[in-house]
Amino acid sequence: MAPALLIFLLSIAIAMAIAAPSPLRTGFYSETCPKAEFIVRDVIKNAMIREPRSGASVMRLQFHDCLVNVTSLGCDASLLLDDTPNMLGEKLALSNINSLRSYEVIDQVKEALENFCPGIVSCADIVIMAARDAVALSGGPIWEVKLGRQDSLTASQEDSNNIMPSPRANATTLIDLFSKYNLSVKDVVSLSGSHSIGKGRCFSIVFRLYNQSGSGRPDPAIEPKYREKLDKLCPLGGDGNVTGDLDATPEFFDNQYFKDLVKGRGFLNSDQTLFNNNQTREFVWKYSIDQGEFFKAFVEGMIKLGDLQSGRPGEIRRNCRVVNSSPVQILMES
Ligand code: HEM
Ligand SMILES: *[C@@H]1O[C@H](CO)[C@@H](O)[C@H](O)[C@H]1NC(C)=O
Ligand SMILES: *[C@@H]1O[C@H](CO)[C@@H](O)[C@H](O)[C@H]1NC(C)=O
Ligand SMILES: *[C@@H]1O[C@H](CO)[C@@H](O)[C@H](O)[C@H]1NC(C)=O
Ligand SMILES: *[C@@H]1O[C@H](CO)[C@@H](O)[C@H](O)[C@H]1NC(C)=O
Ligand SMILES: *[C@@H]1O[C@H](CO)[C@@H](O)[C@H](O)[C@H]1NC(C)=O
Ligand SMILES: *[C@@H]1O[C@H](CO)[C@@H](O)[C@H](O)[C@H]1NC(C)=O
Repeated sequence: MAPALLIFLLSIAIAMAIAAPSPLRTGFYSETCPKAEFIVRDVIKNAMIREPRSGASVMRLQFHDCLVNVTSLGCDASLLLDDTPNMLGEKLALSNINSLRSYEVIDQVKEALENFCPGIVSCADIVIMAARDAVALSGGPIWEVKLGRQDSLTASQEDSNNIMPSPRANATTLIDLFSKYNLSVKDVVSLSGSHSIGKGRCFSIVFRLYNQSGSGRPDPAIEPKYREKLDKLCPLGGDGNVTGDLDATPEFFDNQYFKDLVKGRGFLNSDQTLFNNNQTREFVWKYSIDQGEFFKAFVEGMIKLGDLQSGRPGEIRRNCRVVNSSPVQILMES
């Protein structure tokens, strides 16, 4: 082929595959894939019937996707890319390895959507819809999601390692981190309320049970009876992969999490710290007595989290785990 023609074809192919994203809006797929939101909900519902915890696990993916990397793209399904020989993905990053789960539920949603309307619905939007549905199906609030995200062409394990907060984090650290994304103190508390569902590992709490801040002693903020229970679940030197409930009602999205914090029964240090800090405490109090206020604030927070985007061009992945073959590759192969 003549070089000029090749370059011409290449530029058309690239322009077709990679387009700058348009602003997010509700009902984005109402023309191109009207059943999209029903299909997502159906797959999530069935997954939660098979395994109730998968709701929590799927919902957590939104947080770990959207915070990494806001300077490239926020909610861009970068989290879902598997490692390749040239790229260390985010799945094996510090906060994700042996911890994030239910990626296969997202795969099932994608497969169902590709059957109905191939090449239309992004993996990034699937994560946002799935998180919303998981909360709603757990008895939490229901809200409309803005859609129209594109999927990233890369991922960054390093960025995930640098950005995602540790379970040891204190409220000040969390407030500082969230503020970089224009998320307020109120958002820190309401979004932490997502820990109303799901489980955490002993690995994430042994330091606070036996050596809080290197003191050689437990975190004094843990209520004694609850500490006894955690000590039994997570003995020193025990299996770090054993899991415990993040609140007393781990399958129901409710304000129990905040009632637990008031009683010193927060599972993670990053949870209990919210009741120790004078900026976050007032919100914990409020949400512990007013579930409606919590739900309202949580929805606001999830929408803000879902809005994080850089506007870098992406694509609609066919498989959430891998980027589509580059147009260059397709041309070379044909
Ligand atoms: C504020 C900072 C946050 C920290 C430090 C944090 C940390 C953690 C940790 C350590 C776990 C347990 C992981 C394990 O032990 O394997 C966990 C679980 C979870 N997190 Fe967070 N998280 C935060 C905010 C959020 C947000 C904003 C969301 C959702 C919007 C979220 C959703 C979840 C869910 C649903 C689970 C349970 C997952 C399951 O059962 O599979 N978290 N989080
Ligand atoms: C991710 O964000 C950090 C700053 O938070 C920036 O330094 C880095 O270049 C970004 N990474 C990518 C891949 O854009
Ligand atoms: C919070 O944690 C950071 C980082 O570990 C530490 O520098 C800071 O002193 C802590 N703040 C409080 C109030 O404990
Ligand atoms: C936060 O808000 C400021 C001012 O509105 C804006 O310039 C900045 O881009 C926002 N940052 C993020 C991460 O959204
Ligand atoms: C507790 O942590 C400190 C500081 O990280 C460390 O020096 C000390 O050895 C730890 N103690 C135990 C009993 O693990
Ligand atoms: C948890 O299990 C995984 C996989 O079996 C293992 O690689 C990892 O070391 C375990 N983690 C802890 C903290 O025990
Ligand atoms: C919170 O506590 C810090 C010191 O720990 C103090 O400087 C600040 O004034 C307090 N703020 C409020 C709103 O009470």
